[in-house]
Amino acid sequence: MTTVDTRIFKTGSALDFVHFSGVEARPRLPRPRHTPKLRPPVPHTADLPLTSAAPAQLDPFAAWLLTHAGLHANAYRSAPLNRRLPAVLRRLRMHSPEAARKLLRANPELLPAALDALLIGVSSFFRDTKVFDYMRESGLRSLLQSRRGVSVMSAGVSNGCELYSVAMLLAEAGVLERSTLLGVDCRTDAIKQASEGRFQGSELAEMQQCLREQYFRLEGTSYRARTFLRHAIQWRCADLMTYIPPASDLILFRNVAIYLEDGFAAPVWDRLCSALTTGGFLLTGKAEKPPPGLPLQCVSPSVYRKKDVAS
Ligand SMILES: C[S@@+](CC[C@H](N)C(=O)[O-])C[C@H]1O[C@@H](n2cnc3c(N)ncnc32)[C@H](O)[C@@H]1O
Repeated sequence: MTTVDTRIFKTGSALDFVHFSGVEARPRLPRPRHTPKLRPPVPHTADLPLTSAAPAQLDPFAAWLLTHAGLHANAYRSAPLNRRLPAVLRRLRMHSPEAARKLLRANPELLPAALDALLIGVSSFFRDTKVFDYMRESGLRSLLQSRRGVSVMSAGVSNGCELYSVAMLLAEAGVLERSTLLGVDCRTDAIKQASEGRFQGSELAEMQQCLREQYFRLEGTSYRARTFLRHAIQWRCADLMTYIPPASDLILFRNVAIYLEDGFAAPVWDRLCSALTTGGFLLTGKAEKPPPGLPLQCVSPSVYRKKDVAS
């Protein structure tokens, strides 16, 4: 079994999948003339036949792939991952899960590519503009009232777009050199790409030209984040299910929890909230909300601030 590589790399949704199978309306039965006194015993849920309303099962090949990549197969919602199976087969150039499994057994070095195709890594610079506007105009200013720099962590950073976006905000505020930034993801390929800081022109198309020119350099047919920006960020390949995050003033946990079963996402929220310094900010995806009971106050859509637990 391959385990998640936890080396530190230091460089020198839309929610498109929500699938509800629906519950078919039952045909109306004629009302009984009188209520029967005895009801039949309610069958134990395990005895109930699987109907179309039962939650979909994770495809056995997807479960096998996650387990062999050192991840918890039960942690993931099945519908979005099951939809990715054709993409995994295409990436491996195989026609069936059986053939793909055989290929991966013989060539375990292909596992990262297969995992890369299975886990959704969609990201973009300044994704959800309002969240970044809030941080630029209010959040960072309030953090910097009592700090010379900020510690930032992105949990599920994918190719790094969101962390480079924060790095640009910190550079604009003149505190990048005094700040620490850490990007964590379980996909080695994503972490490698993020640490290289190479992006296609299409990925930078929405970015203001002045930011693009200041923070990126055209290298051949792609853009590369400038050295000072890359050197400001550390990258780490790790599984959020077990990772203990460092103390941070700003944590981005965006568009990851939507892919996780609530029971597995809850301890991750918990650990991230514990790592957040008092007054620190936690940013979520549009469709995500931290579970109730955590000392967090929503201060703007998708922006939460850690309350002083002592008060
Ligand atoms: C949809 S992307 C979100 C990227 C970015 N946070 C954003 O919102 O633009 C979800 C990321 O979570 C990562 N991920 C999923 N499960 C993970 C786990 N158990 N540990 C670490 N990262 C995980 C995936 O590899 C993927 O890069």
